[in-house]
Amino acid sequence: MRTQIGIVGAGPAGLVLAHLLHLQGIESVVIETRSRKYIEERVRAGLLEHGTVKLLIETGVGERLQRECLTHHGIVLRFHRGSHRIDFNDLAGGKTVTIYAQQEVIKDLVAARLAAGLPILFDVEDVSVHGYEGSSPSIRFHAAGKEEVLHCDYIAGCDGFHGICRPSLPAGVLTEFERVYPFGWLGILAEAPPSNDELVYCYHERGFALLTMRTRQISRLYLQVPHDEDIEAWSDDRIWSELRKRTEADGGWKLNEGHIFQKNIASMRSYVVEPMQYGKMFLAGDAAHIVPPTGAKGLNLAVADVRIMAKAFAEFYKTGKTHLLERYSETCLRRVWKAQRFSWWMTSMLHRFDTDNAFDQRRQLAELDYVTSSRAAMTSLAENYVGLPWD
Ligand code: FAD
Ligand code: PHB
Repeated sequence: MRTQIGIVGAGPAGLVLAHLLHLQGIESVVIETRSRKYIEERVRAGLLEHGTVKLLIETGVGERLQRECLTHHGIVLRFHRGSHRIDFNDLAGGKTVTIYAQQEVIKDLVAARLAAGLPILFDVEDVSVHGYEGSSPSIRFHAAGKEEVLHCDYIAGCDGFHGICRPSLPAGVLTEFERVYPFGWLGILAEAPPSNDELVYCYHERGFALLTMRTRQISRLYLQVPHDEDIEAWSDDRIWSELRKRTEADGGWKLNEGHIFQKNIASMRSYVVEPMQYGKMFLAGDAAHIVPPTGAKGLNLAVADVRIMAKAFAEFYKTGKTHLLERYSETCLRRVWKAQRFSWWMTSMLHRFDTDNAFDQRRQLAELDYVTSSRAAMTSLAENYVGLPWD
């Protein structure tokens, strides 16, 4: 087998890259260890930045998104029983954010690629990457028990945080930057209409809670829990009781409750590798960086990376120039570090830390008071939340 770009991983990074390359007339093959069903049902992110939505619509994969999504013009920060709205119309030049589940984006991208007769190889095993230090990169794997070799010009490592591309790079090439948080998020999906039209981020002495949604009938709710928490310790009753406490508010507030049909705990970390490229291997998305979900940046950063990568490959195949490819890592990292800063800041402001002392709690409350009363601070939150400009 031979192609121009060998893409490892059919998450948002790999599938958006394959789609953008196809629009530029560049061939690629996507290989994925999981089944189509698995990746189309995997519950993860749900909030798309303004620029991510624009890209999906402009490149022809936003039709269902436009019909089914929920558009939000602001978010609410809640603390001390008070609710404070950050208005994007006023503060972010009218830009919005969009609720549309990650697995729906995946379904749309898979459908578009398969309808165009282009390859995604699901259920592959024993993936390994070779030759990217020289001029003949290849990806080896087993498909239906048979050993295959995919020869390519470049390899795109889009295989997420636990993938094989990043760890395959020679020792000493990458520098890692990391912060692990002493808590995780317990997330549920429930058959309950959202209690508020917009997302509500709650700071509470019992810990952080977030009210978000998937549709007008389905709520997505998160609770801060200790990092080593056992999901079995959380019965449905305990989850609702804790959510009621952490989201309490004045003014006739009521939490809508319903049947919980999905539950999981995700750990939280901030992580970056530099550089995001070595020889003919280019890393994108979670393969190169992880953010805590508080700023909703993970999926959006993955899309931003591959947009830059696709432009660089397009320049190379049209002109033979490698200028943009050489600058790929540097260009991505400028945005990555700003998203890291924002996600870390939101996380630090809204969660209770093990080491919390009275000083830190007063400081967090002062920060929340400032960010909900100073126009300058609200503007900064709003412009980061809707997504910093791409160019
Ligand atoms: P991934 O989506 O991880 O895709 C990588 C793909 O590569 C996967 O399909 C994987 O199966 C495949 N793969 C792995 N190894 C191999 C291999 N050896 N060979 C071939 N294929 C391979 N972000 C938010 O903004 N908000 C959230 O609420 C949120 N919740 C999350 C919850 C969880 C449990 C996780 C794990 C992430 C969450 N994120 C969230 C982050 C967001 O989902 C990711 O940032 C986003 O999925 C990154 O896309 P990606 O394509 O880089 O990686
Ligand atoms: C989600 O809808 O899953 C979501 C939204 C905003 C966040 C994190 C997760 O900050």
